[in-house]
Amino acid sequence: MNREDFEILKSDIIFFDNNATTFKPKEVVDAVVEYYTKYTSNAHRGDYKTSLKVDMRYEEVRELVKDYINAESSKEIVFTSGATDSLNMVAFGFFKNILKKGDEVLITKLEHASNVLPWLELESEIGIKVKYAKLDENLKLTPKSLEESLTKNTKLVSLAHVTNTIGDVRDIEKIGEILKKKNIYFVVDAAQSIGHRKIDVRRSNIDFLAFSGHKMLGPTGVGVLYGKYDLLVKMHPTRVGGGMNSYFESDGSFMYHEPPSKFEAGTGNIAGVIGLGSAIKYINKVGLKNIEKHDQELKDYLLKRLLEVENVTVLNKNAESANILFNIDGVFPQDTAVYLDHYNICVRAGNHCAKLLKDELGIKNTCRISLYLYNTKEEIDKLIEVLKNSKNIFEVVI
Ligand code: ALA
Repeated sequence: MNREDFEILKSDIIFFDNNATTFKPKEVVDAVVEYYTKYTSNAHRGDYKTSLKVDMRYEEVRELVKDYINAESSKEIVFTSGATDSLNMVAFGFFKNILKKGDEVLITKLEHASNVLPWLELESEIGIKVKYAKLDENLKLTPKSLEESLTKNTKLVSLAHVTNTIGDVRDIEKIGEILKKKNIYFVVDAAQSIGHRKIDVRRSNIDFLAFSGHKMLGPTGVGVLYGKYDLLVKMHPTRVGGGMNSYFESDGSFMYHEPPSKFEAGTGNIAGVIGLGSAIKYINKVGLKNIEKHDQELKDYLLKRLLEVENVTVLNKNAESANILFNIDGVFPQDTAVYLDHYNICVRAGNHCAKLLKDELGIKNTCRISLYLYNTKEEIDKLIEVLKNSKNIFEVVI
């Protein structure tokens, strides 16, 4: 992992908030700048050289995404504004039209708002029931506990691959196998895993997969919705407009393009898509296996060192991803974050958009450290040193 690739790391920042967003390597920034300075044009609309170049780059990225998640066809890859947008499209463009009153959607209390609120909306709009799967004593969702939570009315299971709080890594391959046998749809929110570990949508029998570019070294405002092609054909666009229709007439008739174009109304985030392509190439160059190994080593080291600090409580000692929740005893998490920021250490504090977690964890707010490929043991040592000196926290914070 080459820290030199990240311009922002030349300052003395220690960034431990990689679940919120990641830094961008120079290659990604350069790709975005190059689009804006060397060949700005719209996509799929022009008949001149720069526009055709944009078309090519845009579609190359679709191919890159397809290979990255092992989709069958690049027609199954829809560019969106991020994981939230993708999950909203799935809920309101697909499931709203096929679910009926009494049907059940199974999620967990560890899901991010983006994988709870769309289903709660459908609960209030069409009378489906949102159910929460059982978790084990470490708040892990095992294939067994998932299977025990299914009922004859479960039509869909929607899960984060990796949770953004306790760092539970779900066995999506096994879960996909169970759901396929029972003919239950499987939606996966890959926001926290896509840049950290391999996802194979076909091997895991995933019907829809959602993720954002900015959590995998890419730009903000761009993301992906993967859907099995036959499902995308049935799915309705939740936004309509230019670029996605074949025709519309004054007699009221209209026709949309085939997927994925049908879901990409308006001018897309072209620079974002191009930057996303560059991010995928960067990750491929480093290797997801190496990233996963680095994550694990660093997480183990962080845990070991955090447990040395007397007045710190770690809330997810069994974390599987590089994501640790902790609190300084008797200190409000936001105060801890402000204290750490005084030493240029960035962590997130609060409920992390997972507002139901408190029902399972028994604590509403926590500090979160989430690591990525450019973090180091030296940065963790600095954090530990600052935490060990936290007796003066209120002198620093006030
Ligand atoms: N979902 C992002 C996080 O967990 C923003 O921080």
